Amino acid sequence: MDEAEFDYIFKIVIVGDSGVGRTNLLLQFVQGVFIPQSRSTIGVEFRVKTVEVNGKSVKIQIWDTAGQERYRAITKNYYRGAVVALLLYDITSSSSYNSLQKWIDELKMHADGNVIVMLIGNKCDLSGQRTVLEADAQNLANDNSFLFFETSAKEATNVKEAFMALVRELV
Ligand code: GTP
Repeated sequence: MDEAEFDYIFKIVIVGDSGVGRTNLLLQFVQGVFIPQSRSTIGVEFRVKTVEVNGKSVKIQIWDTAGQERYRAITKNYYRGAVVALLLYDITSSSSYNSLQKWIDELKMHADGNVIVMLIGNKCDLSGQRTVLEADAQNLANDNSFLFFETSAKEATNVKEAFMALVRELV
């Protein structure tokens, strides 16, 4: 498809602690691949995917901001213009869940007031090691008017569904 041939373009940012699977969620959605030993995200990277919804072509630009503390200062500009923020945690990591408030505060500070937030509990293939209850995350999402999905970037569970639910909110 020609670069210019799209009806909408949306910028999405991904936030969440390092290691929750941001890079792999993105790769699974954009390229349909999972890389077990993906290198750590450095600074900011973005990838683009165009999807069709209701006969419209929607170009999604997804920015992956490094979760590591030392990069946080340079990520601030990248919230600009984002219409969606994906707020990721790992269902096997309570600490990644406990960090969500920090990321919510960061979004409040830097993202547009109308940004649509989707809470995503990734690694749902590891349900045997789960430490974060789905019901707790659902309550957090309800309290904050966030959309919510549990996903597995590894097994491609709910990945397309989550992104398509977002696109339907936007188009
Ligand atoms: P940084 O780039 O280091 O900030 O981390 P990230 O959040 O981008 O995570 P990344 O995608 O690099 O994944 C971190 C680790 O979790 C890797 O070892 C992945 O293989 C693993 N991982 C990511 N998603 C899943 C998943 O859905 N299931 C399982 N079982 N492992 C996953």
